[in-house]
Amino acid sequence: MVKFLLPVFIAVLTPAALGNADDGLVDFKTQVAPIVVEHCVACHGPKKAFANYRVDSYARMMADSDAGKNIEPGKPDDSLFLELIVQAEPTGRMPKNSDPLSEREITTLRRWIEQGAKGQGIEPTADLAGMVARSNRPAAPVIYRTPVPIATIAFNQSGEELAVGGYHEVTVWDPSSGKLLRRLAGMAQRTQALAYSPKADLLAVAGGKPGESGELALIVPDGQTPPRILATASDLLLGVAFSPDGSMLATAGADRTVRTYDLASGKELLQLKQFADWVTGIAFDREGVSIAASSSDKLVKVFEVRTGKLQTTYILHNEPVLTVGFDCESNKVVSAGVDRKLHVWDPKVIAAEDGTAALLEDRFKKELSSKTIEGFGDEILDVVLSRGFVFSASADGKVRQHDLKTSNLLKTFGESGDWAYSVAIDSESKRLAVGGFDGSVRVYDIETGREIVHFLAAPGLDRP
Ligand code: HEC
Repeated sequence: MVKFLLPVFIAVLTPAALGNADDGLVDFKTQVAPIVVEHCVACHGPKKAFANYRVDSYARMMADSDAGKNIEPGKPDDSLFLELIVQAEPTGRMPKNSDPLSEREITTLRRWIEQGAKGQGIEPTADLAGMVARSNRPAAPVIYRTPVPIATIAFNQSGEELAVGGYHEVTVWDPSSGKLLRRLAGMAQRTQALAYSPKADLLAVAGGKPGESGELALIVPDGQTPPRILATASDLLLGVAFSPDGSMLATAGADRTVRTYDLASGKELLQLKQFADWVTGIAFDREGVSIAASSSDKLVKVFEVRTGKLQTTYILHNEPVLTVGFDCESNKVVSAGVDRKLHVWDPKVIAAEDGTAALLEDRFKKELSSKTIEGFGDEILDVVLSRGFVFSASADGKVRQHDLKTSNLLKTFGESGDWAYSVAIDSESKRLAVGGFDGSVRVYDIETGREIVHFLAAPGLDRP
C-alpha cells in the first residue's frame, strides 16, 4: 500500500511558462485555471469548501456561494471574486492567510472577467486540477534514467501486444521477444490501471498524479491517434474496467468514488460514494449486471450497474483490500489485499440484508458462501481471473495460480524478488505477464511454467 505513494524517481521537467496575458483574449484553460488551482482550490474544492464556494470546475466558479453571485461576467468591479483578491485589508483577502496574488495574476483574472468570464472550449464541469495537469504535462522521457514501478500490465485481444504503464506514457511490447513496439504518449504522470475493450481495439488508461489529479483516457493503441480524455478527477484513479459488452467503463479512485461512463457519448452514468477510503479495484460480473469495488476501508461492495443500488458488502477482510475480480464461470468474487489471503465469495448468497456486522459475519461462515486461500508471504497486490483459475501477484515476489473450485495451488511463477506488482494473462496463447515494482516484465508459458522473456519496460535502459 505504502509503495503506491512513493515518488516516481524521474526528474520532472519544468512545465512550460504559461501564456502571456498582455493582449488578446485571456484563455481560461491555460491562464485562469492554473491560478485558481494553485491559490484557491485547497480551500474551495472537494475537500474543503469555505463559504460553500467551490472553484474546482468552471461551472462551480460561476455558481453562487453563501454570499450569492461571485463573478459578474463583464463587470470585474462588481465581482466579489476579484474584490476579495485585491482587498488591501489582509484579514478578508483571498487567498486567505497567504501573500496576495501577483499583479500579473490579478490582471489576468480582471481581464478574463472583463471579457465575459468565458470557459472557451472546455467542459464546464471538468475538474480544473486535471485540466491544468494536462495542459502543463511534460513529455515522456526519451530515455528513462530509472525504471518505473509497473502498477498495471495488459494483453490486447489478440495476445500479440502487451501494454505497460510508463511515465507520462503507455509502452507497448511484443510479449514473445520483449521488443518495444510503440510508445503511446500524452498520458498522466502515472498509469495505475489499463483495460482493453472486449470489442474494439481500444485501450482505457486510468491514472493521474497522487493527491492532485486523476484522469481516464481512451486510446486507439496505434501510436498515431491522440488520446480522448473521458474524465478527470481530483485524485489518482486506481482501477478501470470495461463492461463485458464494451459499452461502458467503470473507474475506481483515490477520491473514494466509483464512476461509470457510457463509452459512445462519454457521459458519466453513475457516481458511487459509499466508501470511507480509496477505492482500489473494480470489476464487472459476467453479465455486466453488477460491479464489485474493493477499498482501503477494508470492505468490498457490489452494486447494481443500472441503478447504482448497493447489493452486497463483504466484511471479512479486516485489512485494506487492494484488488478484486469476478470469475466468469461461477460469477464468484475474488478479493485480496493486505491480509495476504484470497477471499472467494458469492455475492448473490451474501446479498445484503438488514442485520448487524456480527450477524453477517456468522452468516458468511455458516453458509460457506465465503472461503479463503492462504499461503502468501506478503500482501496480494493484483488478481486476474480466467476459466476457473485465479492468478495473484504478491509483494513476496511471486505469482500463484490457484484452482477456484478446489482452492489448490497449481503453479508458482517467479523467484521471490522485488514485488510482483501487476499481472495479466492471455488465455488463448496461455501466457502470463508479471509487472515488477523494479520495472521488470516477465512473460511465462502458463502450462510449462517456463519463462519466455524478461525485460525492463523502460525505453533506453538495458535489459536486467
Ligand atoms: C486558506 C484557505 C483559503 C484560500 C486558499 C482561499 N480562500 Fe476564499 N475563503 C476562505 C474562507 C475561510 C472564506 C470565508 C470568509 C472568510 O473567512 O474570510 C472564504 C470566502 C471566499 C469568498 C466569499 C464567498 C462568500 O460567499 O462569502 C470568495 C469569493 C472566495 N473566498 C474566493 C477565493 C479565491 C478566488 C481564492 C483564490 C485566489 C480563495 N478564495 C482562496 C478560505 C480560503
